[in-house]
Formats: sequence, structure tokens, C-alpha cells
Amino acid sequence: MKAKITKAVFPVAGLGTRFLPVTKANPKEMLPIVDKPLIQYAVEEAVSAGITQLIFVTSSSKHAIENHFDSNFELEAKLAEAGKNEWLEVVRNVLPAGVSCVYVRQQNPLGLGHAVLCAKDIVGNEPFAVLLADDLIESNDKSCLRQMVEVYNELQSSVLAVQPVALSETEKYGIVGLDNPELELGKCAKVTSIVEKPKAKDAPSLFASIGRYILVPEIFYFLENVNRGVIGEIQLTDGIDKMLLTHDVSGYRFHGKRYDCGSKSGYLEATVEYGMKHKDIGEGFIKYLRGLNLD
Ligand code: G1P
Repeated sequence: MKAKITKAVFPVAGLGTRFLPVTKANPKEMLPIVDKPLIQYAVEEAVSAGITQLIFVTSSSKHAIENHFDSNFELEAKLAEAGKNEWLEVVRNVLPAGVSCVYVRQQNPLGLGHAVLCAKDIVGNEPFAVLLADDLIESNDKSCLRQMVEVYNELQSSVLAVQPVALSETEKYGIVGLDNPELELGKCAKVTSIVEKPKAKDAPSLFASIGRYILVPEIFYFLENVNRGVIGEIQLTDGIDKMLLTHDVSGYRFHGKRYDCGSKSGYLEATVEYGMKHKDIGEGFIKYLRGLNLD
């Protein structure tokens, strides 16, 4: 019987140094894009793909994430009392019905692969998704993860979301080698290698793996057995690369626009574009931008 993907891992233990000082006391995943935190966009994407259990790999400074997905009785009571039913709905629907959260601590910041390994016992022997909340992906129709779940259902093997990047950008990403270097939108190719942040001259292609993964549970074995870095860190890409020897992995070029909200400029681009499309403030905001008369 085909396994259904119901669990998603959200590695949220990172320090968010690129956004200091705002991330000194606030998790970077709680930075808002207009009126919703980044982590909520990622959770909504997961839920749209059929995920019912959210596994947050967290650290001691990330209580705001737990609070965001918990009920807030005091706030709800006050909104109800004031008859602010619209806001009451917004607050109550942060986590849709039928979706549960589990929190597991990553005690040392030892890399993305290590964070995924922290979820091993909760994931168990099932395929699962991994979403990095600082990659915000907007799509008109089906969410990126939903597209990937469809690919998984067809191929029954791990799927990585990939997109083309500039030669000057390879050092920011896990770069995949593909058996079809001309990969078109909405199509898959077999991943033949994956290298974490290579120099342009060492990059196996110009396709980067971005923060959406569907992985078979065998990945845990490979993560446990990769060579660790100098401080003992475990890269997810190294685990995937080892897995390629015995398991098929597909690179899927998704439909949608990805914003790198792990960088200040990507974060601002997302803020402006989501602001322009926002149902309440979009029109006024566009007028404001036009008034700036930028050429
Ligand atoms: C992580 C991964 C990298 C991937 C990237 C996508 O890097 O290690 O393979 O390409 O996310 O955003 P980070 O951005 O955390 O340095």
C-alpha cells in the first residue's frame, strides 16, 4: 500500500544571525510578511498538501512559535466580549482543525541534517516533508509542497524542489546534478549528485535545491552515517548525496515564485509584493508606491 505523507518537519532552531538585532529576542520564523509570520505561510503550505502533523525542531528561544500555534484564551475571550468576531476567527484559525503540533528540541545547532535527525522518532517509518520557513513560495494554483506530494505519489521516491540560480549564487545553495540539465517547469529529473554550497567551478549544474523536501525514512540512516563537519555538524545534502547510491531521488522544478526571506533583500521583496496583493491594503499600498515616482 502506498504511504500517505502526513508529517512535516520544520527546522526552526536557527539563530537568525542575518537579521540581528530583531532576532535577538524574536525567532526569525516569526518575522511577518505583512500580517502573518513566515512560519504560518509554511504551515499553511504544508496543510494544503495534506499534512496533519507538524513537527517543529526548536530551541530554547523559540517559545513564540509554540504560542503562535496554541490557543490564547485571554485574547479570544477579550475579542469575543468585544464582539470582534472576524478577528476571533483569524486567531482561532491559525491552526486548522485536525492538525496537531509536536515540538522537539535541537540541543546543539549542528546543521540542517542534525535538525532533521532530531525528528526521527516522531516521523517513524514513513515518508515525510521538510519545509524551511525562510524560503517563502507563492503559487497561484497548487502550493509547491502539494505539487511535490503529487510527484511523490507517482514516483514513490524522495523529491527535492529545485530552481535555476545564477552562476554567482551556487555558494548559497545545495546544488544538484540532474540527468536532464534542460529541466522544464513542472517536470522532474533524476538527481545524480548534490553538493552543499559549491564554488561555481565545482557546481554540478545551475539547479539549486531550495527549502522543500519529501524524503523517505531511509534518509535517517544516511544522516546518522555521514561524515560530520569540524564541529560535528550534519548537512542534509550530505545525507541525500549518500542516499543517491541506493535510492532514487527526483529534482522537481516547481511552479511558483520563491522569496529568499533568509536575506534582508528577499524579505523586503516579499513584503512589498505581498503588500501589493493584500486584500485590505493592496490598492492603497500600490498607490503609495506609484507616488514614490521611482524610475
Ligand atoms: C539550506 C540548505 C541548502 C539549501 C537552502 C535553501 O541552506 O543547507 O542546501 O539550498 O537551505 O534555502 P541555508 O539557506 O540554511 O544556508
